[in-house]
Parts: sequence; structure tokens; C-alpha cells
Amino acid sequence: MVIEKICCLGAGYVGGPTCSVIALKCPNITVTVCDKSVERINQWNSEKLPIYEPGLDEVVKKCRGKNLFFSTDIAKGIQEADLIFISVNTPTKTFGNGKGRAADLKYIESAARMIADLATSNKIVVEKSTVPVKAAEIIMKILRANTKPGVEYQILSNPEFLAEGTAHSRGQKAVQALCWVYEHWIPAKNILTTNTWSSELSKLAANAFLAQRISSINSLSAVCEATGADVSEVARAVGRDSRIGPKFLEASIGFGGSCFQKDILNLIYLCECLNLPEVAAYWQQVVSLNDYQKTRFTRKVIESLFNTVSDKKIAILGFSFKKNTGDTRESPAIYVSNTLLDEGAKLHIYDPKVEVDQIYYELTNAYVTSEPERVRKNIQIHDTAYSAVTGAHAIVLCTEWDEFKELDFKKIYDAMMKPAYIFDGRKILDHEALINIGFHVQTIGKRLSRAGSIRAQGSQTMP
Ligand code: NAD
Ligand code: UDX
Repeated sequence: MVIEKICCLGAGYVGGPTCSVIALKCPNITVTVCDKSVERINQWNSEKLPIYEPGLDEVVKKCRGKNLFFSTDIAKGIQEADLIFISVNTPTKTFGNGKGRAADLKYIESAARMIADLATSNKIVVEKSTVPVKAAEIIMKILRANTKPGVEYQILSNPEFLAEGTAHSRGQKAVQALCWVYEHWIPAKNILTTNTWSSELSKLAANAFLAQRISSINSLSAVCEATGADVSEVARAVGRDSRIGPKFLEASIGFGGSCFQKDILNLIYLCECLNLPEVAAYWQQVVSLNDYQKTRFTRKVIESLFNTVSDKKIAILGFSFKKNTGDTRESPAIYVSNTLLDEGAKLHIYDPKVEVDQIYYELTNAYVTSEPERVRKNIQIHDTAYSAVTGAHAIVLCTEWDEFKELDFKKIYDAMMKPAYIFDGRKILDHEALINIGFHVQTIGKRLSRAGSIRAQGSQTMP
């Protein structure tokens, strides 16, 4: 089975970049990324792409118009394709059965129904969205119930984290076809094939394990602050054990991003449905600890500022959920900002890549506030860190952008109200240098003394 044309439903964070790489690596395949959102597709076809990722611009510019196309013509995309990726969003349900935990599969279902309606030839359909275990069955049921004569479907699960093609035995040819696409740039030995349910569960499991590591180290950051240990030293030491490993042990203000929380909640819901309450409670704790970490950090900011931030100017440095992206979904900066706004603070926000409208949306939408106008008046978005911090009582660093390490903190100190506070939620700044300048500094997982050495034992947490 030779793949000549690929169509992807969903031009989001997964569909856009994944298909751009396929187009780059497989010049003999024509890739069309379709979305029902005209605005999204226009952005993909413009100079300014809707997603920032290092290197993505170059790849898109190289392939767009040659073998990579972005289109709202979903019917044409589906009809022409040999292989269709479903890469639509699967948000946590906000109402109804499973509210707050289960994945909402309405977009997956609508994508499957579109394929069933429009396809006129055989298709390999690849579920690329992260879905609950057994979601492939839903797609299969919809397609099989609506199959037109002469049209056959093979359904594979290929979650985003690896080139991992999977299928039932009768779909082996389809698996080989998908593997062939990936083998253009991934060594065959790195392409795993599993049964569909293992594939779906592996994706949830991988994200749950990664998030669990962060919650584990974040739990220890609280112990460090209470005892005088340094969480970075602890992480370095335990990470030396090759069975544990050094990666994903960075204590922080909490994990964000569109996947971790959603996928763990999904796993929890699955466990509840399978009547496995102990397993559900185990994974729930990873989410609860993450909430605790965000709350703990924000409470520390407020308490340090004499327990009132009302009308105080606070600079928020970084709004994306991690560096090198403009993505704000589940960003811890949203929780921190919301809480400070509720307490009456005036926020001056700077992020190198997040769009101004996106920040306003995250802080004023109906899910987070009933007073969007009041909130709007209390936010100012800046285009440099220096203008955001001028006249501020405190700086709250929420994202680990490299450029924050290069700032001239003497200049910043001189421009701030005194006493001047810095809360480093990502442990990236030179705390000793900041203390020497005169800042009151607090970070995650380490007690700092204001004037003395940061190694001083038994020193009190500032203020
Ligand atoms: P996204 O919200 O950025 O993009 C999804 C797109 O699908 C939207 O533009 C939406 O308009 C479009 N869409 C919805 N229904 C459609 C339909 N029927 N036809 C055409 N377009 C349709 O989502 P994302 O971040 O790309 O995530 C997609 C999936 O991949 C989710 O299941 C997510 O859990 C998973 N995932 C995401 C990441 C990540 O880093 N963002 C990583 C791994 C897995
Ligand atoms: C994650 C998974 O890593 C990826 O495999 C999956 O396909 C999609 O979800 P992503 O959400 O893009 O990717 O970012 P990731 O790098 O995993 O970081 C998630 C969050 O954890 C970020 O907020 C990050 O700042 C935080 N984090 C990460 C920590 O707090 N400490 C760490 O040591 C690592």
C-alpha cells in the first residue's frame, strides 16, 4: 500500500507541526492540513504562523505550496487522501457525565462522521489525538456503520509522542503503510507497533508518569523550603541514579500545558469507570499536588508583600506554560495572575511570544472571572521586561525564558519600588547576585537569606 496523499483533520499544535515535518521528510507525499477554522488556516497560509516553535517557520516556508497545503476544503482533503490523520482537540468535558475529568470526544466523533460522509475510496484513518483507551472503537463503529459500498477503512492509533503505528491484525498492511511514512526519517527499530488499546493507554501512561515526576520533585521542594535543603541539589543527586535519571526533575511553580492535566484526568476517569477507585485516587494526587504547588507559590508572594497586594504593581515575567512556546494552555501563570488580580493587584505582564489578545483572553474569559471589565483595567501588557518592571513592587517570574537570565537586574532594581521583591518560580536567576543588589528573593525549593550567603544554614525565609 503506497501513500501518496495525506490529509490531516485539525491544524493545531499537533496537526500543523507534525504534517510540516512529514512534508519535509517525505517530498514524494502531498500533505494537506485541513481545519474548519478559516482563521487558523489563513494564519498557516500567512507570514505569521499561528504557532511558535523553534525551526517551524523554516520548515513550513520550505514546503508550503509544494507538497504542504493548508486548507478549509475538508471534503477535498478527505476524498483525495490515502491516509487521514485525526488530530482534532479532545478537551476535558466542562459539563455533563464525566465533567471535569473525561475527555470530550465530540470533535473526534464529528471528524469520523465527516470521513464517513465524504470518503469515496479506501482510507487508512489514524487517530493522532490523545484519547481515552478504546476511543479507536468509536471511530471504527461510526465508520463501519456508515461505510459506502467499495470503501474500506483501516483504523490505527498513533499518539503524538512516538512514531507508533498500531492496529488489529487485519490492518497489518495499514500499519506497514504508516511505518513506511515514518521510516523516511525514523529508524525502523525505533518504530513500535502494539495493539490499539496498548497504544492509547501508553500515551496516557507516558504523560501521567512525566507529570508524576514533576509532582514528586515539587512535593520535595516544599520539604526543602521547610528544612533548608536545596531541591536542585536533591534532584541532581537522585537523578544520578540511572534507574531514576536526571530529566524532568526540575521543581517549578507547577506543570502546565494542554496535555498533562487533561490526560491524567482522563486516566482518572477511566479508572473510575473501570471500578478501580484506588488507582484513580493515586493519579488524582498528582493533579492535587500540582494545584498545591501553584497555590503555595502564590500564597508566598502575597504573604511576603505584607499580606496585601491591593493596588500594588506586580510585574509578571513570562506567561506561556514553558519557554520557547507562545502556548498558554493551563499555564501556571494564569493561576498566579488570577489570584493576584482577585487580591486587587495591578499586573504588568511581559512574555516574549504570547500574543496580547491571548493574555487578555486567558484572564478575562467567563471561566475565570465574572468581572472581565475590572480585570481588564488592572492588566497592562508590555513589549519589554524593562517597561513591565518599572515602578513595580515585585517581580513574579513564571516562565523560564532564557532572556530573563540576561536582564540587567541592577537597572531593574533602581527602577522598582523598595523594598524590591523577586519571586523566581523557575529557579533560573542568580539569586546570590540579586540579593547582593538589594532584592528580597524567594524561589522554589530553597531558603534564601537576604544579605548573607545563599548557603547559610538555618536562615529565615524572607521577608
Ligand atoms: P488544537 O486545539 O491546537 O487543534 C485542534 C484543531 O482541530 C483546532 O484548530 C480545531 O478547529 C480543529 N478541529 C476540530 N474539529 C475538527 C474537524 N471536525 N475537522 C477539522 N478540524 C477540526 O489541539 P492540539 O494541541 O493540536 O491537540 C490535538 C490532539 O493532540 C489532542 O487530543 C491533544 O491531547 C493531543 N496532543 C497534543 C499535544 C500538544 O503538545 N499540544 C501533544 C500530544 C498530543
Ligand atoms: C507534554 C509531553 O512532554 C509530550 O511528550 C506530550 O506529547 C505533550 O505533553 P508539553 O506539554 O509540550 O509536552 O511540555 P513539557 O515539556 O512536557 O512540559 C510540561 C510542563 O511541565 C511545563 O509547564 C513545564 O514547565 C513543566 N516542567 C517540565 C516542570 O515543571 N519541570 C520539569 O522538570 C519539566
